[in-house]
Amino acid sequence: MSVLDVSELSVGFASEQGILEVISDLSLSIAPGETLGLVGESGCGKSLTATAIMGLLPKPHGQILGGDIRLLGESLLTSTEAERRQHRGQDMAMVFQEPMTALNPVQPVGRQLAEIYQIHRPNWSTSQIQSRIVSNLKAVGIQDPESRLSAYPHELSGGMRQRIMIAMALSLEPKLLICDEPTTALDVTIQAQVLDLIRNLTREHGTAVLFITHDLGVIAELADRVCVMYGGQRCEERDVEALFRAPLHPYTQGLLDSIPRLDHSPRTRLQTIDGQVPQAGQFPAGCRFRQRCTRASAECEATPPFVDGVACFHPRETHHA
Ligand SMILES: Nc1ncnc2c1ncn2[C@@H]1O[C@H](COP(=O)(O)OP(=O)(O)OP(=O)(O)O)[C@@H](O)[C@H]1O
Ligand SMILES: [Mg+2]
Repeated sequence: MSVLDVSELSVGFASEQGILEVISDLSLSIAPGETLGLVGESGCGKSLTATAIMGLLPKPHGQILGGDIRLLGESLLTSTEAERRQHRGQDMAMVFQEPMTALNPVQPVGRQLAEIYQIHRPNWSTSQIQSRIVSNLKAVGIQDPESRLSAYPHELSGGMRQRIMIAMALSLEPKLLICDEPTTALDVTIQAQVLDLIRNLTREHGTAVLFITHDLGVIAELADRVCVMYGGQRCEERDVEALFRAPLHPYTQGLLDSIPRLDHSPRTRLQTIDGQVPQAGQFPAGCRFRQRCTRASAECEATPPFVDGVACFHPRETHHA
């Protein structure tokens, strides 16, 4: 069974002009131990997908408009807020780009780590909690963890804070870990260490990972499968090797072409493709990429179905230049 099943999910915001649909009919699933990379230009809906899964859409305007999100087979959309809170600690956890958004600035990190167990493991003794926290911090590569517990988040380096947030997310050994640009704010060496850490931990525990990033080098290193989003929709989703070897969707091809040489400079950041992503609500009918696409034809005024890993009427193989 998949850990996560998102099916035909649509998410939008209530505005004065009515409902603005930002994510449309997005489907994805992740098996135990599998890492799905989620990529796409800024604003395409990656973080919103993550917050919808976590049940953390901004209130009151953010809304699920359709579809379903199932965790271990159980719909999260019909669960109560209390059940969802329980899931959030226990079954799924999220690591954010900026750890300061997740850490409480006025509480020592040790206390924040302990709180998770006090809530979810009420029978555990203080010393039991303490020794688990110390071993968790060691697992994320923090040397001498005892000395860090009394530190406030601002007293720690960015890399250290990110490790603490990962330790926090993994406290209860969640089945699903969502990482939203977890290493973007870190320098390259620390970034590599944090990625290693996520890879090892997920391998050991069979955690399913949804990994959001702009960085195709990171995807190539970490993901088993890649889902490419454009304008709130899935345009391509395939095994990482197949996708890098022969991208089918013109947008995916554009993304890959925009980095110099993947094998030589795996950490190059993504360049953008000609033209801008239209604002949500201002997409053309049919294929949302068609105004920027060199292969667009009249056919593309209809919505391309998602078939064999790609939503395109003119995927690479069938294209006649
Ligand atoms: N609170 C909000 N109210 C209205 N619209 C929002 C809100 N949050 C996000 N959006 C819209 O949803 C779209 C998707 O945002 P999201 O944060 O998911 O993008 P992203 O793919 O994560 O981008 P980035 O790579 O920059 O992080 C954006 O275009 C934005 O206009
Ligand atoms: Mg984002």
